[in-house]
Amino acid sequence: MAKIGIFFGTDTGNTRRVAKDIAGLLGSGLAAKPVNIRNADVADLLSHDILILGAPTYGDGELPGLATGNATESWAEFLPKLEGHDFTGKTVAIYGLGNQKSYPDDFVSAMYYLYDAFAQCGATLIGACSPEGYSFKLSKAIVEGRFVGLALDQENQKDLTSKRLAEWLSAIQAAWV
Ligand SMILES: Cc1cc2nc3c(=O)[nH]c(=O)nc-3n(C[C@H](O)[C@H](O)[C@H](O)COP(=O)(O)O)c2cc1C
Repeated sequence: MAKIGIFFGTDTGNTRRVAKDIAGLLGSGLAAKPVNIRNADVADLLSHDILILGAPTYGDGELPGLATGNATESWAEFLPKLEGHDFTGKTVAIYGLGNQKSYPDDFVSAMYYLYDAFAQCGATLIGACSPEGYSFKLSKAIVEGRFVGLALDQENQKDLTSKRLAEWLSAIQAAWV
């Protein structure tokens, strides 16, 4: 089993494309093929030492899922399944897709729900990022002045994504060595 598991939710494909880019950058020796969270169970996540988890934000700062009008189940349906599971010893890094121009009051807020749920299960969270370089008012995903993971905006800052991704991957790789 690959050391790193990559799991994502998506409705229109952006978060899946980033998951594939991450897998490509890490290489197949390190990372397993990305899996849509609607096709995963908790045991699939627990079979990896390191998890990279991606979520877009839908609704007004909510997790993707049926309640926010997505076509399929997603993180909103998965997170309740974590209850009672122990992720002690697992390392988790989160990335989130959002739109800072259209949703400045809840930019990439869904990352917070992943952060909170996995922290409550005992996981070690890595990969927090500075909010510099983004233009938004509020985000639930800001904890102690930093995003709890990597924020990406394919609608307004697509040109920055590959640089942000490369820098974030080196930072998290340094954190789990
Ligand atoms: C109905 C709707 C609601 C959204 N709500 C938010 C939001 O609250 N915060 C945010 O940052 N982005 C929001 N977005 C933007 C999406 O998160 C963004 O387009 C993302 O790239 C979609 O990812 P996906 O292609 O993986 O589904 C919303 C988009 C739509 C269509």
